Amino acid sequence: MLDFKKIIADKIKEAINIENIREYIEVPTNKEMGDYSLPCFKLAKEMKKAPQMIANDIKEKIKIDEEIISKVDVVNGYLNFYINPLAITKTVLENIGNEKEQYGGSSIGNGKNIVIDYSAPNIAKPFHIGHLRSTVIGGALYKIYKFLGYNVVGINHLGDYGTQFGKLIEGYKRWGKEYNIDENPIDELTKIYVRINNLCKEDEAVLEECRNNFKKLEDGDEYCTNLWQKFRDVSLKEFQKVYDLLDVDFDSWNGEAFYSDKMGEVIELLKKSGKLVESEGAEVVDLSDKDMPPCLIIKSNGSTTYATRDLAAILYRARTYDFDKAIYVTSYEQILHFKQIFEVAKLLGLDKKYTDNLIHVSFGMVQLKTGKMSTREGNIIKLEDLLNEAITRASEIIENKNPDLDNKEEVAKKVGLGAVIFNDLYNSRIKDEIFDWDTMLNFNGETGPYLQYTYVRTNSVLEKVGNTPELSTVDATLLNDNASINLIKELYNFGEIIKQAADKNEPYIISRYLIDIAHLFSTFYTENKIINDDKKLQDARVYLTYCTNIVLKTGASLLGISMPEKM
Ligand code: ARG
Repeated sequence: MLDFKKIIADKIKEAINIENIREYIEVPTNKEMGDYSLPCFKLAKEMKKAPQMIANDIKEKIKIDEEIISKVDVVNGYLNFYINPLAITKTVLENIGNEKEQYGGSSIGNGKNIVIDYSAPNIAKPFHIGHLRSTVIGGALYKIYKFLGYNVVGINHLGDYGTQFGKLIEGYKRWGKEYNIDENPIDELTKIYVRINNLCKEDEAVLEECRNNFKKLEDGDEYCTNLWQKFRDVSLKEFQKVYDLLDVDFDSWNGEAFYSDKMGEVIELLKKSGKLVESEGAEVVDLSDKDMPPCLIIKSNGSTTYATRDLAAILYRARTYDFDKAIYVTSYEQILHFKQIFEVAKLLGLDKKYTDNLIHVSFGMVQLKTGKMSTREGNIIKLEDLLNEAITRASEIIENKNPDLDNKEEVAKKVGLGAVIFNDLYNSRIKDEIFDWDTMLNFNGETGPYLQYTYVRTNSVLEKVGNTPELSTVDATLLNDNASINLIKELYNFGEIIKQAADKNEPYIISRYLIDIAHLFSTFYTENKIINDDKKLQDARVYLTYCTNIVLKTGASLLGISMPEKM
């Protein structure tokens, strides 16, 4: 792929000798200002010369190849470069044509390891909407990094540990037969939990039994371990239904319990560092110099914490995966937790290469039109039900729009799930997500179904002509109208967009880009007659349609959205 930014940077280097000049080059938001621009203000300080003068000097000194750069202009201290549209067209058609589904991918990640910790629901509790966001955002990042050549390890750090399991074991021991936990695991286990919890409040002796069970579980007692395993298995079976629908998978299912025998080392290391101090009977790391509350490592009753297990996980992941980045995807409610453990992790004697690359990727809440969706407020929404409702609603719309369609069920599944996923990834993560069926399923809005619908339109063009022409027969000079050129320029940016999304851990950069592509295609489609008496012109336009088709499909797949071939 011709790298125009590099070509321009090299040109500028011929005129002035500045390190990393590439980083100075911008893509102007105002298209009138060229395709690339060099603002000379920062250079002016370094070179002690007026920006306008620098721009003029460079312009004078460089010789341009008009087949690539058609014009260079100085405007108010900016040096603006206009790329010859034909050069862009040729490189775009050639690269998409040759690379197909690989177009936009890269090898920048080769040899680098990325660990992504996402989804992580809690065993025996409902898989709630916050975990849906973690699953969707984490799943997208997983695919994005892979596409850039990284070796990615997806980890489901399940909440499968803690004193509540002592209670569940006690409840099950007493009344297990009354509940059908194989059929309806989460609901039934929740009922058992509520019941035993009430009993504990009335009867201290029962609470003591529960504590004992947890202790036994930690010591590897067979009865307790088997029950815990059963709770874990039935819960996972239920969670798997959501993962199957979303087509999300993990390389490791090591949850919190996996670290139960690995926390001793953390505690030893923290002791050695001299920073583990006693406070009201508990052991904490004081973080007042970092303006944070202390990080609780051992509670006053002797048990370890969520933080202790996360610290053990950092040690384990550094050693096992030798990560270049370790990413954690959770809601912003855990910002403090991660700030604390990332700080405490510096006391574990790990190489800075690990502790400098712990990244918390946080996201906002989901707002129903009626308010926050959370399990705590009692309006539990089961994810499986929610996803199935999306599919049902999509299927009603399809029934209406296209009752004769083949594979209606499969299409409805893709459209319904695509709508939910796209809605989740449409805004910058930290913004609260508004969950509204009508908005996300609107075929004309900035939605998943709209992208799918645009993709289907490209398909029907390709189907109508039968064979996509050979690249070598396509005359790129015929794609010289504005609508075609604007679409081509945006297709050119695909690879850069994916890198930006990875840099910022923001899948929405890809979502917005795909919407732009869909809009540009729509304009191209209305302004140009694709099926044409002029066969040469038709071939060129069909080829551009084919390129758009590939980018839409690849881009959507990076978000976790599958495209129906018809809808
Ligand atoms: N199970 C936790 C929760 O539901 C999320 C775990 C996130 N990952 C981690 N390493 N702490 O809040």
